[in-house]
Amino acid sequence: MGADDPGAQTPATVSAAATPYARLGGEAGVRALVDRFYDLMDLEPPYAALRALHPAALDGSRDKLHWFLCGWLGGPDLYIERFGHPRLRARHMPYRIGIAERDQWMACMMQALQEREVEAGLAQRLTEAFFGTADWMRNR
Ligand code: HEM
Repeated sequence: MGADDPGAQTPATVSAAATPYARLGGEAGVRALVDRFYDLMDLEPPYAALRALHPAALDGSRDKLHWFLCGWLGGPDLYIERFGHPRLRARHMPYRIGIAERDQWMACMMQALQEREVEAGLAQRLTEAFFGTADWMRNR
């Protein structure tokens, strides 16, 4: 990711003091957020269109988002260790992502943040950072 790339602006670049990764509870906390995100996607009718873009079994999706977010939130680069540069926008090209898909992804993540009782200030900051990345993923 280059400096001119909106994806380069991650929560971790904003503050070096306590990373969002640490504030979420480290690897287990990030995993719990990711698991809630995919559970909601699987369960809640408003996210059905988003769910339909994903494979029948979500195990691989859970692992990849977990590994990615650990690094993106300022923790260990578990995704890059396994797969190299995330090339997130390119990896999303096979899926039709417009405003509706972006907004479902955001709503699902915001619900997960709320249900995990992530502290309001951090949830707000993460919502803004997720929105930048989700919007950048639009390809329609
Ligand atoms: C904007 C709406 C989005 C949609 C509709 C979407 C959809 C998808 C789908 C269908 C996959 C494939 C799942 C699989 O292969 O198991 C995927 C993979 C992935 N997504 Fe998203 N996504 C969105 C936004 C995001 C955002 C905002 C992030 C990060 C903050 C993200 C991170 C990832 C990662 C890390 C992968 C795995 C990539 C790989 O290694 O293949 N996605 N996404």
